[in-house]
Amino acid sequence: MSISEALHLHVALLPSAGMGHLTPFLRLAALLVHHHCRVTLVTTHPTVSLSESHFVSRFLSAFPQVSEVQFHLLPLELSSAKSTDPFFLGFEATRRSAHPLSPLLASLSPPLHALVFDVTLISSVIPITEALHIPSYILFTSSARMLSFFSYFHTFASNANDDSAKIPGLTPIPRSSIPPLLLISDNLFANIFKEDSPKVPKLNGVVINSFEGLEAESLEALNGGKVVEGLPFVFAVGPLAACEFERVECGDQLKWLDDQPNGSVVYVSFGSRTAMSRDQTREIGNGLIKSGCRFLWVVKDKKVDKEEEEGLDEVVGRELMENTKGKGLVVKNWVDQGEILRHRAVGGFVSHCGWNSVIEAAWHGVPILGWPQHGDQKINAEVVEMSGLGMWVRSWGWAEQVVVKGEEIGERIREMMGSELLRRKAAGVKEEARKAVGDGGSCGINLMRLFEEWKMRNMNI
Ligand SMILES: *[C@@H]1O[C@H](CO)[C@@H](O)[C@H](O)[C@H]1NC(C)=O
Repeated sequence: MSISEALHLHVALLPSAGMGHLTPFLRLAALLVHHHCRVTLVTTHPTVSLSESHFVSRFLSAFPQVSEVQFHLLPLELSSAKSTDPFFLGFEATRRSAHPLSPLLASLSPPLHALVFDVTLISSVIPITEALHIPSYILFTSSARMLSFFSYFHTFASNANDDSAKIPGLTPIPRSSIPPLLLISDNLFANIFKEDSPKVPKLNGVVINSFEGLEAESLEALNGGKVVEGLPFVFAVGPLAACEFERVECGDQLKWLDDQPNGSVVYVSFGSRTAMSRDQTREIGNGLIKSGCRFLWVVKDKKVDKEEEEGLDEVVGRELMENTKGKGLVVKNWVDQGEILRHRAVGGFVSHCGWNSVIEAAWHGVPILGWPQHGDQKINAEVVEMSGLGMWVRSWGWAEQVVVKGEEIGERIREMMGSELLRRKAAGVKEEARKAVGDGGSCGINLMRLFEEWKMRNMNI
């Protein structure tokens, strides 16, 4: 019998908007179920994207033992929201709708040992969990390096003209890597950071989808008390790899990959919420052709999938589509990234460095050519480079700052796909990832430590 089984632990999970946030929450839920925890999932209605609602449905059918509690968001008064990004508006709507969570959590039976919620909800949830004496944890859905920056942010913001964030224990984060919205005052994203960053010490703990072999520096700094005084313990339970319930039909893509030689295909995807400009999309297409490599390219035209309406011919251009025939496969729907990265034919990944993508590439040992677009992605790209998992090109800038030319894209892709050194280092990261979840690995040790803590706290109430 495992510790959790003996203790009948009951944990509720509260994710926030976007697949990038939802995915690690559902993987953590699956892991907790595997360890015999009783799990309640608080599901938000409505979701921003269709992918999210489909994903939650698939999860709930795969795990009938998980209870669902529905949480209905109040409509958001848009004029006061200081953002037009649908996912940020989703965060804000959840923050402002938090009140009904109180009776909802209080009514759960048996009483909760912990609530694990999203980082974007800290200020709204802490007063509720404090009043109800429920231990509060966040699942931080990005890198430990980003968590360090988030926890340090209020200190950085008061020295806002520094050319880098010099966080104790960490390689400095240059100003150019900091999410651009955080350098402009008074927008929704920056306001959430400002309000929530000083409150991290009020949490009982932070759960993170990372591991020593990928982020030794940041994890040591965080848990060594260097980053900010009074931070709670950071439980690195990663890598949380893709689960069975996430599988989507992708027979055509896998069949195509089956016909390609080992390590010959570059997989290109910028995640679930990056819409590329038409100009940049066409340059990427030209770059892929110039690279001479085979490719599997996921094209995305709109931030939110509900709005995708145009066909590939319109988005990519008919001529380019003709030219890609034979060398590559271009798709425009949600793909089973885990299955693609696992395929023996895939030898490299052009990625925006969203954290889930980085973790999945690490899990499968696929080298990354990072091309960060928004938010935390340059900070994650620094992790990719420092760990040896891949490379990134700083001069390409943020999305929409410049249109990177096909010639250069093709050259860098060739460089990544041809690098024996990168391949070896990425294979080393994969080995570390497997060790972390193996017998006696850090994932299990940290999870047991978390279970012990949940048990102790509950006895103290
Ligand atoms: C391709 O990879 C597979 C699986 O890793 C391996 O079994 C096979 O021998 C490889 N083929 C060649 C030609 O190297």
